[in-house]
Amino acid sequence: MPDSRFPTTRLRRLRYHPAIRSLIRETRLDPASLILPLFARPGKAVRQPIGSMPGHAQLSVDLIAEEAREAAKLGLGGIILFGIPAEKDPVGRDSYSESGIVQQAIKAAKDAAPNLLVITDVCFCEYTDHGHCGAIDDHTGRMDVNNDATLELLGKQALSHAQAGADLVAPSGMMDGMVGAIRKALDGSGFTHLPILSYAAKYASSFYGPFREAAESTPKFGDRRAYQMDPAAAAEQALREVELDLAEGADLIMVKPALAYLDIIRLVHDRFPGVPLAAYNVSGEFAMVKAAAQHGWIDERAVALESLTAITRAGARIILTYWAKDVARWLV
Ligand code: PBG
Repeated sequence: MPDSRFPTTRLRRLRYHPAIRSLIRETRLDPASLILPLFARPGKAVRQPIGSMPGHAQLSVDLIAEEAREAAKLGLGGIILFGIPAEKDPVGRDSYSESGIVQQAIKAAKDAAPNLLVITDVCFCEYTDHGHCGAIDDHTGRMDVNNDATLELLGKQALSHAQAGADLVAPSGMMDGMVGAIRKALDGSGFTHLPILSYAAKYASSFYGPFREAAESTPKFGDRRAYQMDPAAAAEQALREVELDLAEGADLIMVKPALAYLDIIRLVHDRFPGVPLAAYNVSGEFAMVKAAAQHGWIDERAVALESLTAITRAGARIILTYWAKDVARWLV
């Protein structure tokens, strides 16, 4: 038995030379694994900055096309589109209209960058006047999203995105049965090849604050705790969510947010080896770093790269992040 203690063993030998550190690295960031979120709004040549997310803006469709071209040039894994419609209503009709804002954005992005993966977020909160993720009523004794009434609408919305040219749809509403309903709607219209990335383990998180400014989707009353997961619930509940979504036909799985949920990412990764796992490095995670960096309190680039490295190390091989373009530039 060789002596594996100090001074025979010195772990600093693995660190003394930069090339050795690089050689033995296991986690490497790759722009091809990063997805850039974009917010589409009506108008022409409109770039409406999002105050809490410096560098990001609501973009009119012509500018979405430019971003898509740039994302492709930088070698990103894709973009995910969110729509902010001109008009909101109780059931979010714009989200499944042929001429809806996200449908226009999909077409513009595909025209500009045919080989770029275009993902759509399938949900209602950006499209409803009450800001909830589906049709609401009080049949449970409280105003809440009616799960089963929303399923049919989700099917319509996902199909409409597919018909506009989306390559992948990503339901984020945390409705029970949403993946199955979307699978059925897609298959019924010939989109059997179109994969579903399910936001399977999505928590009711305060880290979504800046996104809600970006998407103008803050609920007008109440919150999302009756459908998104409780951060303090048993971690294994995330496994039940993933298991159900896979059984309903999900092809890829997401955990969201990322940094405060690295344990969940690791758990899902270990329990479902081989299932492509994504994590959403959400708006609040981005905004905190931006704000501190603007004060000169931390180094944005170093902190962003360290955060994304941690998310990858935890087991996510795909990351949705507002730093996607920056990372591609930093890594060259
Ligand atoms: C729902 C959706 C949200 C985010 C992505 N999809 C907001 C929510 O659930 O309230 C948040 C993303 C982020 O914070 O960056 N359509």
